[in-house]
Amino acid sequence: MAEKTVKKATTKKTSKNTAEKAKVTAVKPKKSVLMVASEANPFIGTGGLADVLGSLPISLCENGNYDVRVILPLYGDMEEGYRSHLTFLGNFNVELAWRNQYCGLFYYKRKNVTFYFVDNEYYFKRKGLYGFFDDGERFAFFSKAVIDSLGFLNYYPDVLHAHDWQTALSVIYLKTLYKNSFGYDRIKSIFTIHNIEYQGKYDKMLLGDLFGLGTDVEYLLEYDGCLNLMKGAIELSDFVNTVSPTYAEEIKHEFYAHGLQYAINANAHKISGILNGIDVNLFNSETNESLFAPFSVDNLDGKKVCKKELQKLLGLPERDVPIIAIISRLVSHKGLDLVKHVLEDVLCEDVQVVILGKGETYYESYFSYIADKYQGKCRAIIAYNRDLSTKIYSGSDIFLMPSKQEPCGLSQMIAARYGSIPVVRSTGGLKDSITPFNDENRSSGIGFVFNEYNADEMLYVLKDAIFTYGNKPVWEALIKRAMQADFTWTKSAKNYEKLYDLCK
Ligand code: GLC
Repeated sequence: MAEKTVKKATTKKTSKNTAEKAKVTAVKPKKSVLMVASEANPFIGTGGLADVLGSLPISLCENGNYDVRVILPLYGDMEEGYRSHLTFLGNFNVELAWRNQYCGLFYYKRKNVTFYFVDNEYYFKRKGLYGFFDDGERFAFFSKAVIDSLGFLNYYPDVLHAHDWQTALSVIYLKTLYKNSFGYDRIKSIFTIHNIEYQGKYDKMLLGDLFGLGTDVEYLLEYDGCLNLMKGAIELSDFVNTVSPTYAEEIKHEFYAHGLQYAINANAHKISGILNGIDVNLFNSETNESLFAPFSVDNLDGKKVCKKELQKLLGLPERDVPIIAIISRLVSHKGLDLVKHVLEDVLCEDVQVVILGKGETYYESYFSYIADKYQGKCRAIIAYNRDLSTKIYSGSDIFLMPSKQEPCGLSQMIAARYGSIPVVRSTGGLKDSITPFNDENRSSGIGFVFNEYNADEMLYVLKDAIFTYGNKPVWEALIKRAMQADFTWTKSAKNYEKLYDLCK
């Protein structure tokens, strides 16, 4: 739902709402950044990208050094509570190769951040965000509309900060078609890779006909026989970053780079990693509305209530045994083949296992089958459910996240905030956020970490966690450290500011 502070709905279209336009394009007092993305919470989201776009801009604004704005497509699926509170700024036409398309522009101000929305019902009034036959065209249109919006608004930010392949063309257009245009010529660009697996690959024939680009720039996008939009943005951005320092290193190698290792290595001089934070006001064990009972580092009684109530809710016996939780998209790069390999061994222990997620049918069926076979010990809920996820984070003891690749990952941080001890593979953001308890000293750290992508190694470390759970003082100290780990955006937002400062 939209915040209460927002003024009455004003979506009525006037041909040119100049007063409104002036309001959001007023003289920029600070350095300015425009983030370009395909999703942002709370407006519309399908994953971690939306969490980042929903919270990083707000943290940056709070620091007071930057004027940060965000631009998104106006999807048909956007929550009505927000949609009806958007303010119309005007409309213009966008040329994309031989196409000439309507583009409406709306805005909404949330916690000092202006969110712009690009409206075109033909492209965006659909059920769902991605997975359409014309996604290339939809996001090419969006990227071109973003660039044209700057001229329309007479707002030329210091930095254009694009996220993931869907917005790669905004950088590409800025640095090719618009590179000599007044206002555009001094905009610097940053491209953030949230996941290198999704690159936006298209047939070379589409260069002019779809993307409206000349053959003179083909070599910049060309990779492995196709046009690769992410590769184009890597080549053309002033800086590139990923969402954790470890992932920034990992993607230099074939195992992690999904074919883009050559482009990454060739541009290594301008690539860095900044670990994501989470919205700690939202993921708060004292205030979140989905909790069965609040709890804190000083008083963990509520966590016991959360556990009992969760067991009741899921029809599991109310016993003091470790509850191991998996909350994940059910796809193989989340390490689920390792889980599948040893899950029945785990279930031989005196534990309970809860799985929440949706994804590949293969894993959905497998987990449903196991839950059926181990009734009273295992539950699998095949769904995305925010409310239930909070109940599981807070009611569980161990949070298993053995990803094969994890650019950053947010769930391990959320789990730690709710005192569910992460068991993770040492990769990407998991490595950078979860310090190991299971090292030689066993006196610090907030989770259990294993290195190789190997089911037996995972099982060994998971059994260590199950065993340690039995030692109440040690386990309680572990919970308290995990809950207190600093996952705020503060440090990361400062690092983004440093990156922006390099854009001179
Ligand atoms: C992607 C990555 C995930 C990351 C998120 C936000 O979804 O797979 O690891 O946390 O983006 O950056």
